[in-house]
Amino acid sequence: MCGIIGYCSKDTKASSVIFQDLKRMEYRGYDSSGIAMMSGGKLLIRKGIGKLDEVNRQYKLDKMPGQVGIGHTRWATHGGVTQPNTHPHTDCSGQIAVIHNGIIDNYQELRKDLIKRGHRFASETDTEVIPHKIEDEMKRGRTLQEAVIAIAPRLHGSYAFLAISTREPGKIVGTRKGSPLVVGLGDHKAFAASDSLALAGQINQLFPLGEGEVAVLSADKAVFYDSTGREIPKKAIKPDAVWSENDKGSYDYFMLKEIMEQPKSLVAAALQDKEIFTAVSLDILRAGQVIVTACGSSRYAALVGRYLFSSVGKKFCEVVMASEFQYFADSVNKNTLVLAISQSGETLDVIEGVELARQEGARIVSIINRPQSLLGELSHNVIYLNCGPEIGVAATKSFLNQLAVFYLLSFSMVHSFDMAVDNIRKVSRQVSKTIEWNGEEIARITEKYHQKNDFYYIARGINFAIASEGALKLKEISYIHAEGMPAGELKHGTLSLIEEGTPVLVICPGDYTYKETLSNAIEAKARGAQIIAVSDVNNEIYDHWIRLPKVHELLYPIVAAVPLQLLAYSMAIKRGHNPDMPRNLAKSVTVK
Ligand code: AGP
Repeated sequence: MCGIIGYCSKDTKASSVIFQDLKRMEYRGYDSSGIAMMSGGKLLIRKGIGKLDEVNRQYKLDKMPGQVGIGHTRWATHGGVTQPNTHPHTDCSGQIAVIHNGIIDNYQELRKDLIKRGHRFASETDTEVIPHKIEDEMKRGRTLQEAVIAIAPRLHGSYAFLAISTREPGKIVGTRKGSPLVVGLGDHKAFAASDSLALAGQINQLFPLGEGEVAVLSADKAVFYDSTGREIPKKAIKPDAVWSENDKGSYDYFMLKEIMEQPKSLVAAALQDKEIFTAVSLDILRAGQVIVTACGSSRYAALVGRYLFSSVGKKFCEVVMASEFQYFADSVNKNTLVLAISQSGETLDVIEGVELARQEGARIVSIINRPQSLLGELSHNVIYLNCGPEIGVAATKSFLNQLAVFYLLSFSMVHSFDMAVDNIRKVSRQVSKTIEWNGEEIARITEKYHQKNDFYYIARGINFAIASEGALKLKEISYIHAEGMPAGELKHGTLSLIEEGTPVLVICPGDYTYKETLSNAIEAKARGAQIIAVSDVNNEIYDHWIRLPKVHELLYPIVAAVPLQLLAYSMAIKRGHNPDMPRNLAKSVTVK
């Protein structure tokens, strides 16, 4: 939801390092950004609204003096996108600065109490209660670290925050609960960040911070404490991320690069530990009930998985939207298996559902892309997507790899994992074909319909979730309203919205759904719709044909999803939007 970075060094150009690392986390939020530097015993803060490069042009963030500092890039939750609401936030004296990722649920009550005791607030944010709480503790003679340990239990909700104080200018103190924070050490430099990706290439030791733990950073070391203030030893792990994989290369945007990487990343999805798949598939078959919980694109992948488990493994499972999971917790028990699907492994809706399920004794298996994620810590078993860091806010290669993992899991249930691996390798070549075949047609469709206000995506059976996913892609990056729905549902109401020229995208591969889906398309066409068909089979009723290669019917979701990603990307560009950083969104949603 937001990106935070802290840097302690002997480096006189520390602010340029902080700025560079913030750039690497901009996908987490880009409404506004700021940096606080400790220089000559004074706190210097520069911050502004807009994307990082815009703020830097105006305030020269990367030219600030000092060797210790903290930086923040924001996705606004509490308080609008304004300069005063931009992090870092300070106490009344301007000697303590804090940056924060998460939500302090009880901030209003804390704010009221602080104001009653004379504190003056400069922002509307929940975050600003933190520096004022620290100020109170330090006035009682506590050190910065003691102050953080003292206030943490009084902060309800989720947080990862970093604090610096002019009283201890060479230090950064950080802690977390429910939001991610990692610590990295390099030669005479120490970092704390929301995401290890931001530290790639700069550290040789990585320490994920545990729930409630506190880290005290100085230029040469990091010391860790538990929530009671007792020092704890921590074992370093090998840094996982390699930033070099994450420049855009020859592409204008990460999203296009990540779409084009899909044939390769699908092959990586199939490089799995067969034993883990056998164990998880047995868990699924043996479970009294299986609930798959996810949000957004990950939930659409889960809906495809549901068909695969049923048609291949003969195992029914329920897919519950993660934000709704809490309302079903009563039916969760020790015979429940919860499959949590989350590319980031940080989505708070998923995390909270899994925590509830654990309390009821359920077994948790998660399918994640990012190593060292919060969701991974809460799971009894983890399957990784292996698609490498996905920077574009819109899920593309992670979505396709989720489909591949569900496919592998379903065939593991019938002892056919190896065959499934071969099929995923083969279908990766069909994805390449789909990309090659459809560039011109997608350009024509974009040219013709980019000013439309509404799109409808329809499909049946296993392909229905791809209709919803395609609609989500279009909405989130081109800002055109789009609705995905079962083709059979159109006539039960939505058909009234179809008028002359309305684009209706129909996913109708030559599989068991073809005939009935085609007749639904004809119903829409009879009312003036323009039919954009996604199929391996041509038909005279199509106004446009996005051509698919012929594949096994269970693999059409994989090849059908890709042209829908390209269509959304093409529409966004045509309409002048940045597909990597769509307005109001962020790559991982770590708030409710
Ligand atoms: C997908 O393009 C969106 N960015 C969004 O719906 C996303 O899938 C959702 O927020 C879930 O994210 P997760 O997989 O990291 O949990």
